Amino acid sequence: MSTQKSGLAIETAGLVKTFGETRAVDGVDLAVPAGTVYGVLGPNGAGKTTTVKMLATLLRPDGGEAHVFGHDVVREADEVRGRVSLTGQYASVDEDLTGTENLVLLGRLLGHHKKSARERAGQLLEAFGLSEAAAKQVKHYSGGMRRRIDIAASILNTPDLLFLDEPTTGLDPRSRNQVWDIVRAVVAQGTTVLLTTQYLDEADQLASRIAVIDRGKVIAEGTKGELKSSVGAGSVHLRLRDPGQRDLAAGLLRRALDAQVQPEPDPVALTARLATAAGDDSAAEQASRALGELARAGITVDNFSLGQPSLDEVFLALTGHDTHESSDRSDNPKDEVAA
Ligand SMILES: Nc1ncnc2c1ncn2[C@@H]1O[C@H](COP(=O)(O)OP(=O)(O)OP(=O)(O)O)[C@@H](O)[C@H]1O
Ligand SMILES: [Mg+2]
Repeated sequence: MSTQKSGLAIETAGLVKTFGETRAVDGVDLAVPAGTVYGVLGPNGAGKTTTVKMLATLLRPDGGEAHVFGHDVVREADEVRGRVSLTGQYASVDEDLTGTENLVLLGRLLGHHKKSARERAGQLLEAFGLSEAAAKQVKHYSGGMRRRIDIAASILNTPDLLFLDEPTTGLDPRSRNQVWDIVRAVVAQGTTVLLTTQYLDEADQLASRIAVIDRGKVIAEGTKGELKSSVGAGSVHLRLRDPGQRDLAAGLLRRALDAQVQPEPDPVALTARLATAAGDDSAAEQASRALGELARAGITVDNFSLGQPSLDEVFLALTGHDTHESSDRSDNPKDEVAA
């Protein structure tokens, strides 16, 4: 594979990893352009972490091949390791050390002299909004601070390729935004980022291209626009004043929007899945048209919201089953296995 010439940071073909009966990664082909954020989107157990670990040379593939900046992840693992950095889903800073101590220690391990390790630690703590927490033990950090120090630790030496494995899972909206800003800053410096996530909006915010994976297979790949238009423009959620008007409302919406309309368990609620978006604001246009139709028919709408397609909806559209059915395929607890 001529990965270097083709401007790809990552290229995989038929990548496979099995754990006993489980095909955790089942023939994955990826082509990740250098200098971009590439999103790997999938539910629990889809194979995201396993894929990342093979690319970061922490797990040996059972089949297929993978190249990172043109280097084979098995035969040229050292070259690959020299160019990548991984922020794990379960990350690796020392809880008992302070923020500064962690970064200085890691800097020393990477070969920095004491003075330059201290300088770099200070810069990163500042850049990540952790200056005030620098002298606190990491075990006293909040979830968001913890995630930021993890990422800081992984970019002590600016890597050519950074793996971020679910960097914002479990974070509140403010902390997620901070992590997103950090990712943008890292990419602006020329680093390629492979980001795994369970959140469509996160991939949407950060990634230029997205691969959706399910049960170890890539089930869709493309730019955000391509992916979204394959799913539709989103959905309109309505709550009516009068449950007796629900059938009438459903019929009107179906005709006005050419949408699939589903009643919710709540007797006044309805969801209309909008058809494929032609332009960016067409979901909003469709929604306002729908409201107009309802008003003309004398139907009172108490509550209305326009939602982007969720990961659940993406999955339903692409696979015909929802994310819950595709989750963890083995009963085994996930133990860390290094190659
Ligand atoms: N070391 C292991 N031993 C046995 N099975 C494993 C191991 N690691 C992963 N698996 C299984 O492989 C499948 C893929 O797991 P993986 O951790 O790659 O998923 P994931 O997409 O990262 O999920 P999550 O979003 O929950 O982190 C799952 O069925 C998981 O149970
Ligand atoms: Mg994972």
